[in-house]
Amino acid sequence: MSLLEDNQSTDLENIVGLSRRRFIGAGALCGAAMFLGGNLLSRSVMAAAVSEGNKRMLGFDGIAAATTDTITLAPGYKASVLISWGQPLQKNAPAFDPSGNGTAGAQEVQFGDNNDGMSLFPMPGDENRALMAINNEYTNYRYLFPHGGQPQSAEEVHKAQACEGVSVIEIERRRGQWQFVQDSRYNRRIHGNTPIRLSGPAAGHDWVKTSADKSGKKVLGTFQNCANGMTPWGTYLTCEENFTDCFGSSKADLKFDDAQKRYGATVTSREINWHPHDPRFDLAKNPNELNRHGWVVEIDPFDPKSTPVKRTALGRFKHENAALAQTHDGRAVVYMGDDERGEFIYKFVSRDRIDHRNAKANRDLLDHGTLYVARFDAGDGNPDHPKGKGQWIELSHGKNGLDASKGFNGQAEVLIHARLAGSAVGATRMDRPEWIVVSPKDGQVYCTLTNNAKRGEDGQPVDGPNPRAKNVYGQILRWRTDRDDHASNTFEWDLFVVAGNPTVHAGTPKAGSSNVNAQNMFNSPDGLGFDKAGRLWILTDGDSSNAGDFAGMGNNQMLCADPDTGEIRRFMVGPVGCEVTGISFAPDQKALFVGIQHPGENGGSTFPEHLPNGKPRSSVMVITREDGGVIGA
Ligand code: FEO
Ligand code: CA
Ligand code: CA
Repeated sequence: MSLLEDNQSTDLENIVGLSRRRFIGAGALCGAAMFLGGNLLSRSVMAAAVSEGNKRMLGFDGIAAATTDTITLAPGYKASVLISWGQPLQKNAPAFDPSGNGTAGAQEVQFGDNNDGMSLFPMPGDENRALMAINNEYTNYRYLFPHGGQPQSAEEVHKAQACEGVSVIEIERRRGQWQFVQDSRYNRRIHGNTPIRLSGPAAGHDWVKTSADKSGKKVLGTFQNCANGMTPWGTYLTCEENFTDCFGSSKADLKFDDAQKRYGATVTSREINWHPHDPRFDLAKNPNELNRHGWVVEIDPFDPKSTPVKRTALGRFKHENAALAQTHDGRAVVYMGDDERGEFIYKFVSRDRIDHRNAKANRDLLDHGTLYVARFDAGDGNPDHPKGKGQWIELSHGKNGLDASKGFNGQAEVLIHARLAGSAVGATRMDRPEWIVVSPKDGQVYCTLTNNAKRGEDGQPVDGPNPRAKNVYGQILRWRTDRDDHASNTFEWDLFVVAGNPTVHAGTPKAGSSNVNAQNMFNSPDGLGFDKAGRLWILTDGDSSNAGDFAGMGNNQMLCADPDTGEIRRFMVGPVGCEVTGISFAPDQKALFVGIQHPGENGGSTFPEHLPNGKPRSSVMVITREDGGVIGA
């Protein structure tokens, strides 16, 4: 069944929790409000729920930092592996080969590498079954090939491309334990060579045409898929992040234009090295191929035969994730960060309203709408808890100076060169925007600004929500839109937490804000997730050296915060060399799915199992309570 092609309003309501019945029930404070931004619920009702919830918002004991090669959890919790890199998705697919000699064809039918953002789609009418769409961001040649180095043939490039993209899998709860369902008809790989349709204002533009695709509408592949989003109409959004790193040049003296430079084009492809064996990635031969990547891609997980769609109306940049919200008048909003030092935060507002009764009617909703970029004021300069105001600036051709005089001959060019358009309208250069999430309780929006060692130089003033020079720790920004309407183009912002190390540094800013202490300190917040009760889960991708500025912080980790009090506790610590990224919850909130990406990135790990040659494998973990209760409560 395709949710994009059938009128399944009842099923869809079950999936996204949007039925009118649930709006007025107790559940309305939970899942539904995630998309509503609180507009259907009076603030007083929400305030009552908040104060009730705060009595025991964080119901677990925080744990110490750790440097061990395992998962360490708060007391009373346990973890198991749901799926790991290389798991065959069907029974007849080749088994994972730890020697590195597995083929590209085998990898195309196995779970991809380096899992990142993921969403869970409950199976209509069955609380014990669900689909998960999981990003596979990149691969690590150290473990992918027997020689441990860069690809040396077209076959090896093909294998690397097969590691990336998205894996759609079915999961099932048996005897209380969520497990991967091998052989499900929904299990599917989308990878670096899967046919994908380009749609929206930039589709068919000359800049996205290549010798292999004169239509400019048929792209091969999605790769470097970082984090994700889930639409209220039951589709998955996968975000293309460091796509430029996959491109290089056979001409060592190739000159890049301003746009190519702004998107980070290099001759060397930063050692990913696909271009010597796959001319599609050679900018000397196929410069327009670069413009066909860096988009948000929409996937229908319930239709294994559906063609994914790149939605160009959402702009082209190094997309981190996509956070869905809804305006008071029922239109879709997508908040998005561009993860590079000094890049911007964006929002897209659809032209048309979401149809909650007919999923098919939302098929092209993300093709029509308006893109905006954020500008923040200098704020009040409070060192512990700065706050201020901001506005969204429209990125539409013919407005705000975006015309031919600035190099934009139409909306397609504004979108393909969104970074240049953002600069032209004076957007604020941020400390690497990573994940964005919307509170299910009050509609406030939270965004991780992971770190920025170049803040204070390179045209990036210390200012507003980016208050520290050489910012190695990061911070979490939040904003509340005017009238609590995500359509509003003005907002108030504050910093929820400024990370730091109070055991090494005295006083702000390097010690961090007052809600950081020796027990909960961390660096480089990256992934974010709200559970139904409104707890904010924080996942880190930082320096795990446990030394110098980072002494005492240990391995990368997951923490949990009370958004109303600012209290933060450490809930989980990951294995050696990993990043903790990707989070999702079972509908009953009794299982938490979390990603362990690139354990042993530089060696030193055999997580999660001890294979003969000690090869670690990225994995999705399932965390449950030993007493079967709600996670975090
Ligand atoms: Fe893929 Fe910005 O993290
Ligand atoms: Ca990230
Ligand atoms: Ca990161």
